[in-house]
Formats: sequence, C-alpha cells, structure tokens
Amino acid sequence: MSAERLKLLVTGAGGMLGQEVVAAARLAGHGVVALGRPELDVTAGESVRRRLEAERPDAVVNCAAYTNVDGAEDEREPAFELNGRAPGVVAAAAAEVGASILHLSSDYVFDGRKGEPYVESDATAPLSAYGESKLAGEESTIAVNPRHFVVRSAWLFGLGGRNFVDTMLRLGRERDEVRVVDDQVGSPTFCPDLAEALLALIATEDHGVHHVAGAGACSWAELATETFARAGVDCRVVAITTAEMARPAPRPAFSALASERAATPRLHPWQESLQTYLGARARRAQVPA
Ligand SMILES: NC(=O)c1ccc[n+]([C@@H]2O[C@H](COP(=O)([O-])OP(=O)(O)OC[C@H]3O[C@@H](n4cnc5c(N)ncnc54)[C@H](OP(=O)(O)O)[C@@H]3O)[C@@H](O)[C@H]2O)c1
Repeated sequence: MSAERLKLLVTGAGGMLGQEVVAAARLAGHGVVALGRPELDVTAGESVRRRLEAERPDAVVNCAAYTNVDGAEDEREPAFELNGRAPGVVAAAAAEVGASILHLSSDYVFDGRKGEPYVESDATAPLSAYGESKLAGEESTIAVNPRHFVVRSAWLFGLGGRNFVDTMLRLGRERDEVRVVDDQVGSPTFCPDLAEALLALIATEDHGVHHVAGAGACSWAELATETFARAGVDCRVVAITTAEMARPAPRPAFSALASERAATPRLHPWQESLQTYLGARARRAQVPA
C-alpha cells in the first residue's frame, strides 16, 4: 500500500461503516472531510457538486445508503433515490474535480443460486428492491466516473451501528433460546477490517468492481452460535428456515463473496474478526460513561 497522504471526503460518515472509514483514514494520516447526513445530503445534487468543488478531494468514499432491506420493499422510491441515483451524482461530481470514487455495494445484488462464493464477474440478479437499488447504484457510479471502485461487501458488524451480532447478544441475555435462520449463508464482515481494505484500494489505480468481505462463510444461525460461544452467553440457537421467518424482502440463500482479482485485499476469517469485535465491545463497556 502506498504511504501517500490523500484528502478523502466521506459521505454517510455517521453510519456504521462511515465511522470506521473516517477513523481508519485519520489513523493512516490522510486528510479527512467527514460528512454525515446533516452535513451533506447526497440526494441534493447541487449541494453535492458545490461541496466537492469547494473541497476538491483526491477520492470520495460514499458510505451513504438506504440500508433497511425489508423497508425498501414498500419504499422503493426513497431506496432507489438514495441507493440508485444519488451514487451517480456523487460519482459524477467526484469526476468533475478529478477525484476517484469508492462506492459500497452488497452481496444482495446476487440471487444466491450459484452454490459457491460469488466472484466479481458473476452475473447479478437481485431478488429484492434493496438489491435492485444497490445494483442501480453500481451502474450509475460506473457510468460516470472511470476512476471507480465499486466494493461489494456483506453482513457488516462493528461498534458504530445496529448489527446482527449486537442483536443476538441482547436477545441471548434476555432469553433461554433464540430462533435464527439457518438456510441463508454469507460472509460476516468486520467494519474496521473492511475500512482498512478500502483505504488500501483507494491508494491504487486498480479500478472496477471488488469483492471484499470476511473470509469464509456461515449461516445466520451459525453466526449466532459462534457469538454465544465466544461471548460466554448461555442461550440455545434454534435453527429455522427462511420460510418460517417470513420477512418482507427475499434474500439470497447463498451469497458468500470471494475475489478473483489478485490485488484485491483479503480480510481475516470471520471467526477471528468476531473475536476481535467481542473484545472491542467488552473494552468499550468498561469505559466510564
Ligand atoms: N450493513 C450491512 O450488513 C451491509 C452489507 C452489505 C453492504 N452494505 C453497504 O455498506 C454501506 C454502509 O452500510 P452501513 O451498514 O454502514 O449503513 P448505515 O449504518 O445505515 O449507514 C448509512 C448512513 O447513510 C446515511 N444517510 C441516509 N440518507 C442519507 C442522505 N440522503 N445523505 C447522506 N447520508 C445519508 C445514514 O444517516 P441516518 O442514520 O441519519 O439515516 C447513515 O449514517 C452501504 O452502502 C450498504 O448498502 C451494508
């Protein structure tokens, strides 16, 4: 990785991943303009262009998104506005000031029928409105800024936002058992691992689509089981099917991600990063309020 100091502009900087990208970039010595939703609404095209023109960053990391997978089924228009069209506006504004764009996408652009980990060249076929909106965002980004990094990741967890691991730990302390889906498999990804990989990518000219997710794969039930075992929580995981769970948005049955690109950063096995995360949570809990 180049040690060059860059000026980065991060949108959606208040989100779970955005916070980690900002922290990792500052730690790496980059200049960072961190813009949460109150500072920059990425759907307000003129404001986006003006802000980028004023800041003139080397690269933009677009972490802003509509991330309510079930909500998107009923709220297609807001989801497409934020996930589909706004990324194209941000990417074009970046191109106008000579900046590269790093945009986040999702394993939910795949239908889950491949039966083995998806690589970058695999055909997309989203099942849900959320997945369709994320695919639209990939396309609108790629169309307007040749210096793009479209990074598909999956099943994020980290200190900065609501995530499955936290939900399981809360439920596991309240109940004797939890019912968790066992027929959806993916690649759990620790936000700080992903943030570091994004910074490594940005320092290159290796543009295009990249798959960056925790190494390995598991089902949600396996992730819950591993979380309880490692955190010492005495709660039984009852494996159920997707059909029993009855959520509004369809989800891919198998959406583990792998990379076919030699230079794409590889992340730690998800179990190792889960352990790191549990340690970070425990340390945070000891900090006086
Ligand atoms: N979470 C996952 O498991 C997962 C998996 C695969 C891919 N991804 C992708 O990774 C990226 C980051 O996800 P995340 O988990 O960090 O999501 P997140 O915690 O929901 O963060 C998204 C951020 O975008 C902000 N935002 C919403 N509308 C905005 C607007 N109009 N202008 C500017 N900012 C706006 C949100 O602000 P408010 O909180 O104020 O709404 C929030 O801070 C997204 O592209 C997501 O699709 C996530």
